[in-house]
Amino acid sequence: MPKIKIDGGHKLSGVINISGAKNSAVALIPASILCDEEVNLNNVPNISDVDALESILIHLNAEVRRTGESISVNCKNVINNKITEDMSVKLRASYYFMGALLSKFKKVDMYFPGGCSIGSRPINLHLDGFKLMGANIMEDGNHFIMEAPILHGANIDLNFPSVGATINLMLAASKADGETIINNAAKEPEIVNVADFLNKMGAHIIGAGTNRIIINGVKYLHSADHEVISDRIEAGTYLIIGALLGKNLVINNLNPEYITPLINKLKLSGIALEVSENSILVNTVSKKKCVNIRTEAYPGFATDLQQPMATYLTQCDGISTINETIYENRFQNLPELGKMGAEYEIKNNNRRAIIYGKRKLHGNEVIATDLRGGASVLIAALIASGTTYIDQVHHILRGYEGIIDKLRSVGAKIEIIE
Ligand code: UD1
Repeated sequence: MPKIKIDGGHKLSGVINISGAKNSAVALIPASILCDEEVNLNNVPNISDVDALESILIHLNAEVRRTGESISVNCKNVINNKITEDMSVKLRASYYFMGALLSKFKKVDMYFPGGCSIGSRPINLHLDGFKLMGANIMEDGNHFIMEAPILHGANIDLNFPSVGATINLMLAASKADGETIINNAAKEPEIVNVADFLNKMGAHIIGAGTNRIIINGVKYLHSADHEVISDRIEAGTYLIIGALLGKNLVINNLNPEYITPLINKLKLSGIALEVSENSILVNTVSKKKCVNIRTEAYPGFATDLQQPMATYLTQCDGISTINETIYENRFQNLPELGKMGAEYEIKNNNRRAIIYGKRKLHGNEVIATDLRGGASVLIAALIASGTTYIDQVHHILRGYEGIIDKLRSVGAKIEIIE
């Protein structure tokens, strides 16, 4: 099993370019199924989640061409094959094949999606929405067969603004009969990016990015070219790294608006940031003030940046708190940080963490417990004294394109070893 080896304590200078957003790309690729002509997606990150989606598309008889950061998909001859369990569990975003195939074939046969184990992560909001649109769902354990003799528009109230449910219902509604209204929709930038793509193909979607999305179903979607937006979680992760180790480090190709809550917290903590239209210059400071974090749906502080931020808080003077409001089990990185010298307490049934700073971190053997938990220990290793070995690194490589090369190019001592 490969491991990441890091010799910590080196300042980082230069430029890091942010890739296309994982959470957009993983929705845009299944969305291409709705079209019977070729679509082209650009700025697609080279990560294993995209490889997994490509394999599913090929299994469905799509023609897929990947060149550099572009992917062309032609779903003209797609066959509605069953998506097997080992394909479905490779990633969370396999659930988008539910909305896409239901839209195209009015039938889907697949399994419960995978993804990071950070809470129970049910998909009841997706399924309830499909049911309101006319789908019958047969559930046998983690196996789902959905059929909608007529897939029609519906008025859907989400009781939580779920990212996955919002996108999945937009996919299903794009070719359904009549009007669908999604109330209490999620407002993440990735949702706008997917709605823009569907509209370029001829869909009628208004309100994406607000809490009320209205979709009028159309019969046919045509070819389109589209660009994946930049990855705000990757950008935020490198910004946190820069706040700890940056010496004129530039994080480039990002949209600062997407990470406003993180920028504000780092500024409050005393970090010097120069924010431009699509880049941020970051320099660390020796004294960092403690700050409190509460995760919320967009535009609040992103839960996906909570774990990387926990590592930052170990280096602040005083006591910081983190309230995790989205997931029930998202502090699994903290015991790993503990092995490196961090001091923390977990309270309120895994919903609140207290981080005691400032603590000197030292290298150790740790694991990446999940994707963003992996980023958290990787950041700890970059600032620790001595050498750290990180196991289970497939979690990290699922979501951060070229992370080893990007960090090396700015002066980190990091490598993959077998
Ligand atoms: C997406 C992102 C993930 C991010 C999360 C929240 C993708 C592929 N993943 O995940 O990186 O952490 O948004 O920003 O885009 N919930 C239900 N029932 C449902 C759906 C969700 O109870 O049917 C709950 C979840 O358990 C969770 C909360 O709602 O507590 C948020 O989930 P959701 O926004 O759907 O996240 P994901 O789509 O899984």
